[in-house]
Amino acid sequence: MKEFSVVIAGGGSTYTPGIVMMLMDSLDRFPIRSLKLYDNDPERQKIIAEAVGIALKKKAPQVAFSYTTDPAVAFTDVDFCMAHIRSGGYPMREKDEKIPLQHGVVGQETCGPGGIAYGLRSIPDIMQLIDYMEQYSPNCWMLNYSNPASIVAEACRVLRPHARIINICDMPVGTLRRMSYIVGKTPKELDVRYYGLNHFGWWTSVKGKDGTDYTPQLIDYVSKNGYLTQKAIETQHMDESWQATHKKAADLLAVTPDCLPNTYLKYYLYPDYVVEHSDPNYTRANEVINGREKKVFGAARSIIAAGEFKGDEFEIDNHASFIVDLARAIAYNTHERMLCIVENKGAIENFDPHAMVEVPCLVGNDGPEPMCQGEIPTFQLGMMQQQVAVEKLVVQAYCEHSYQKLWQALTLSKTVPSAKVAKEILDDLIEANKDYWPELH
Ligand code: NAD
Ligand code: G6P
Ligand code: MN
Repeated sequence: MKEFSVVIAGGGSTYTPGIVMMLMDSLDRFPIRSLKLYDNDPERQKIIAEAVGIALKKKAPQVAFSYTTDPAVAFTDVDFCMAHIRSGGYPMREKDEKIPLQHGVVGQETCGPGGIAYGLRSIPDIMQLIDYMEQYSPNCWMLNYSNPASIVAEACRVLRPHARIINICDMPVGTLRRMSYIVGKTPKELDVRYYGLNHFGWWTSVKGKDGTDYTPQLIDYVSKNGYLTQKAIETQHMDESWQATHKKAADLLAVTPDCLPNTYLKYYLYPDYVVEHSDPNYTRANEVINGREKKVFGAARSIIAAGEFKGDEFEIDNHASFIVDLARAIAYNTHERMLCIVENKGAIENFDPHAMVEVPCLVGNDGPEPMCQGEIPTFQLGMMQQQVAVEKLVVQAYCEHSYQKLWQALTLSKTVPSAKVAKEILDDLIEANKDYWPELH
């Protein structure tokens, strides 16, 4: 059996330990000979790397492990790059969230003006990772979680159309897990039909492998409780803000009662509610800095201090299992059905063939093959046309260094009330991002 070589880009990410744990637990079905971490922040990466290095010595001493900030070392002789970088880190995420809120507009990591700002920072960094991969390991596949995934995916389509990169999101698999609790199945026992853009989509069907249709049962449950389940609360130690988001899905469903919404639609369907329930001085970035980041880095530091890995310090979740399943599907040509962000090319029949959409795909050696989801209704179509234009304008603004197109992008976002407010937010974002964005004119 071939043994694979993997590099994790964004080695210092809070998600790296979970993915490493998952890789270790999956060696019998996805054997690896080498694991490297790569990051451009040596201090941050060192803490995670030293800790997972101790864990690896115990769990899988046969896997060669190293970490580096040198792209040549990182990207030479690798089969898979699992990428999850955050350009600008949490300090810039905080600005993405707080600046729009100062103008009474949704402040979110991937949606609205914050997502647009993050997109302009991520594009050059992801293009650089692709270039390293192509230079040092041309047959490598990049499985990319780095956000904002929809804008990143559109930039890949335009700027690196032949790159072996698959952009993915863990929200649909996370929601499928919640659905599986509701209907008493496991996620792998369910097949879905789904269409949309990243963080902007709907499930039209959730069925068991035996053909049992769970969609009506799920619609009934979600119309009352959203995706909030007691089991999910207990098993996933979920922050309260995420619990509220899952609950809010009931109100999203009310708008499209025959299909199940992605929770991220709350930023577009209820932006006024979101703003009212946001604290402009303490946003999700602050929660993550004081929560997940402290927890993961705290666990890493105690492993290093003890010089020992007990085994339960890091959690494996959907996020980790999905990316390992995806690597496995490519490596072994399994044609497993998974949601990926791909060029539409008719998968959503009545939608722009050149839009990057999120749909079920069969994944094998050649990457994802999208499955046709048919025609979609006028309401969803209208929302998607508006949002995809925002994403395309952001990438055009990046390529052309165009202030005008970025202003149009912000103006068109359903989260922004007027061209006036869009301009005010844009001018603040330009100032905040001057070390990252291209100069616009
Ligand atoms: P984090 O800040 O903890 O980790 C990101 C790491 O990337 C940091 O160590 C940082 O130094 C590094 N980095 C930044 N720019 C880099 C570059 N150009 N080259 C190499 N390394 C670089 O962030 P996190 O909360 O762990 O999230 C990581 C990323 O994963 C974010 O983009 C986040 O939005 C994304 N994410 C996506 C999904 C999804 O559904 N697609 C799910 C979870 C997280
Ligand atoms: C979900 C989304 C990701 C997003 C993450 C944010 O998993 O799919 O795209 O990055 O949530 O979570 P956080 O806990 O950092 O707010
Ligand atoms: Mn996502």
